[in-house]
Amino acid sequence: MDLGFGGEVAGFYQRYRRGYPAEVIDGLVEAFGLTLDDVVVDLGCGTGQLALPIADRVRTVIGMDPEPDMLAEARRVAADRSNLSWMVGSDADVSVLSTLLGKESLGAVTIGQALHWMDHDTLFQALHPLLRAGGGVAVVTNGTPLWLQDSDWSRALRRHLELWLDSEVTATCGTDEDSRTRYADSLAAAGFTVGRSQFHYTDVLDLDRIIGGVYSALPVNLLPPLEQRSYFAKQVGRALEGHAPYNEQIDVTLLTGTREGKTPG
Ligand SMILES: C[S@@+](CC[C@H](N)C(=O)[O-])C[C@H]1O[C@@H](n2cnc3c(N)ncnc32)[C@H](O)[C@@H]1O
Repeated sequence: MDLGFGGEVAGFYQRYRRGYPAEVIDGLVEAFGLTLDDVVVDLGCGTGQLALPIADRVRTVIGMDPEPDMLAEARRVAADRSNLSWMVGSDADVSVLSTLLGKESLGAVTIGQALHWMDHDTLFQALHPLLRAGGGVAVVTNGTPLWLQDSDWSRALRRHLELWLDSEVTATCGTDEDSRTRYADSLAAAGFTVGRSQFHYTDVLDLDRIIGGVYSALPVNLLPPLEQRSYFAKQVGRALEGHAPYNEQIDVTLLTGTREGKTPG
């Protein structure tokens, strides 16, 4: 299965994609009452943006992702950590976790910026029996794609990318309100109690982060060839001229589905 996150894209993802603010991790811990006894699975873990900070708060985190190159980057950055492990697998492999770990064995399953790749209805049904009472599923988004933001520099970037790719770039990657409502309805249908929260902060980007961010989001076959990278960077710089500072408003959304019932002990 080629998802486009392999090869160089995995390196760009690790280097340029932002992690999650501490308040988001606090929100997850609070929502599911996570403790140092808990096991958490981070599905679609990528290079570990969510898995690493959660691992500071629980017994162990299993990062699961179908792209070995993303997992290799995650393993590299977590080399000095002893409570993270990495497993090749997708949402279709979740039933393996039941055999491996047993029912009600997980405090949480987190899915950061990855649910749009999955069959969420089937997944939420399959996760319910794996979670302990009070635990749950968290669907997390991390801001709006760089080219879809409500700012002049973002609109200029989008125009430039559309010309360069010769196609529209409209994918919201599950960050839009319609997707969140569908996911919330699907969690409720699978028997979870749904909660929502949102965290806002601002950042100022530079051209290097914008270009790295674009590379981290492109399928690997659409990356500009190496010899064209400096030309590509110059063209992006030209397209964004006059729009600095590149301010970014970041909304991190947390959609939680809690499995009700008595917590053992
Ligand atoms: C945009 S990255 C998100 C990485 C990280 N969780 C984050 O919050 O930044 C999406 C990840 O989902 C993975 N992915 C794609 N399809 C998947 C599937 N069907 N099941 C699980 N993960 C999948 C990709 O390999 C990629 O690493």
